[in-house]
Amino acid sequence: MSAIVIFATKHGTTADVAARVAEGLGPDTALVNLADSTPNLTAYDTVVIGTPIYAGAPRKEVSRLCQSSVLPSKKLGLFCVGLVINDDERVKEIADAFPEHLREIAVAKEFMGGRVKLAELGTFERLIVKKAAKISQDTDTVSEEAIAEFVAALKE
Ligand SMILES: Cc1cc2nc3c(=O)[nH]c(=O)nc-3n(C[C@H](O)[C@H](O)[C@H](O)COP(=O)(O)O)c2cc1C
Repeated sequence: MSAIVIFATKHGTTADVAARVAEGLGPDTALVNLADSTPNLTAYDTVVIGTPIYAGAPRKEVSRLCQSSVLPSKKLGLFCVGLVINDDERVKEIADAFPEHLREIAVAKEFMGGRVKLAELGTFERLIVKKAAKISQDTDTVSEEAIAEFVAALKE
């Protein structure tokens, strides 16, 4: 099984989660940050795509990647990284992040939780996080269990 984990990130959490997923899938798994390159997907059987959610939306480069015509023929895993806790909101963020034709065929879809370190945010970001998400201290909700379940579903 040749696998690739592709992600976008702003503050590094999605990069961490993507690296953990790649590690779980096996030592030959490729790991690509879309900020560095756009991978050629034809060589891979399994493709995993991860995005953080900002203001309810995925990263633009992930949305662009999702338009690739080769994705529907792959074994696909999709994950979001974000701080909402409510299950309905998580389902909605996944639904808004990835197109329906990919969600339908994905063998694994997961909301991994998220992380915020207030000192790493700009003034505007800090204000939004405090006001909208009511987060006033460093927070880490990344779920080991969610990562493990996601990897297990891809390996089935
Ligand atoms: C300005 C701002 C807006 C955010 N908006 C959302 C949001 O709408 N939904 C959500 O689940 N998480 C939201 N988050 C939390 C981020 O998704 C979380 O911090 C995530 O770990 C960031 O991933 P990254 O480090 O890979 O960029 C927001 C964070 C910031 C700083």
